[in-house]
Amino acid sequence: MQHYAAFLGHQPHISTAELAAVVPGFSLEKVLDKKIALFSATEPLKPSVLNALGGTVVLAEQIGGSELSLADLPKVLLNEITKKRGKVTFGLRTVGVSPKVVRQLYRKCKDALKKDGRASRYVGSDRKPAATVLLHDAGLLDGSQGCELTVIMGEDLFWVGKTIAAQDIDSYTKRDMEKPVRDTTVGLLPPKLAQILLNFGLWLATENGCKSAIKKTPVIMVFDPFCGTGVIPMEALLRGWPVLASDKAQKAIGGTTTNLDWIRKEEKILKKEVPSVVWKHDALKPFVLKELPDVVVTETSLGTPMKVKPTLKDAMKEKAENEALQEGFLRNAAETLPGVPLVCTWPVWRTKTKAVFLEKIWKVIEELPYDIVLPVEPEDGEKPTLFYRRPDHFVGREIVLLLPKQK
Ligand SMILES: C[S@@+](CC[C@H](N)C(=O)[O-])C[C@H]1O[C@@H](n2cnc3c(N)ncnc32)[C@H](O)[C@@H]1O
Repeated sequence: MQHYAAFLGHQPHISTAELAAVVPGFSLEKVLDKKIALFSATEPLKPSVLNALGGTVVLAEQIGGSELSLADLPKVLLNEITKKRGKVTFGLRTVGVSPKVVRQLYRKCKDALKKDGRASRYVGSDRKPAATVLLHDAGLLDGSQGCELTVIMGEDLFWVGKTIAAQDIDSYTKRDMEKPVRDTTVGLLPPKLAQILLNFGLWLATENGCKSAIKKTPVIMVFDPFCGTGVIPMEALLRGWPVLASDKAQKAIGGTTTNLDWIRKEEKILKKEVPSVVWKHDALKPFVLKELPDVVVTETSLGTPMKVKPTLKDAMKEKAENEALQEGFLRNAAETLPGVPLVCTWPVWRTKTKAVFLEKIWKVIEELPYDIVLPVEPEDGEKPTLFYRRPDHFVGREIVLLLPKQK
């Protein structure tokens, strides 16, 4: 059993669900302050899994157990850097430790290294750990230049680990901002959310008995029938997953094609190794595919772009239109993509008085051959969906996972 601490992104309930979806034998031990999840796994986590986690900012692996104390940390650090010769870089990522104690700790670590004949460089400050980009650049994650210790203190808790993964912010920013086609009129899906949706897709494919989803390096064929500018297809290609993408708007087809060509060039992803097909198609019309995909992962229409908070009347109008779209799409998927699981997002309008969710679609799903599932307990104890909301957005997204009814 391996124990980990995940520093969660700004949608902690979704981050936790993502971990539950991808971590083998995931068992949640504790959530601190809605920000850090302590969990165990039945297998060590592979770097490839970590690079594709959209909802975890930093991940640390536990070293030792609860018998350790602050006084042991210099020794723990020395143990972790035995393979590194010459000057060592180290950092401390602490939670629940006062800046004064962090300062003392850092000095003690430096002294211990000096006694051991090692010059050292400290990254971070007594109030803030090193930026994640620095962890990559300073070679602390792979241990090539040193290590960052993670220390979490709380009531009845003393947890020590080493940081083993951190999100590469520069890479996300590049994918998000530098892709050639951005379309603010359809809403911009953040690459991290696309990664999360794809991880739910992998989980659904596994639950659905897809053999290639349970391989050591899983490869699943993803279909996005509302592809827009292609953020989900781009993230699928980055994972080496073949992708099908369609949209009813010609502009979207051009956008996705250009963006996929760009990511292929940037990341050297060959078409013959990881194929992709993009075509124009109305998702309400029968899908005619040579081969069924392993999973549909899609951000369906968010409706009219909102520059201001919608009135309740406007939101209700959008809702009625969207219910019809979702119903048409799901009935079509049930008919022409039989047995294929789906990860979808549905819009949620934030009015002055309340959040307006889709409703009628639930009745429709009762008639269709799908179960709505989640890898974790539902957040509000009722609806088995996940609500992605940003304070600055007027339209949020409800994440819905549809598993074909198992025979
Ligand atoms: C919210 S956007 C998707 C954005 C996308 N995730 C991206 O990365 O840019 C929804 C897309 O659904 C498309 N759409 C709306 N109704 C459709 C339909 N009936 N069939 C197919 N696509 C549709 C729109 O053209 C739009 O591109």
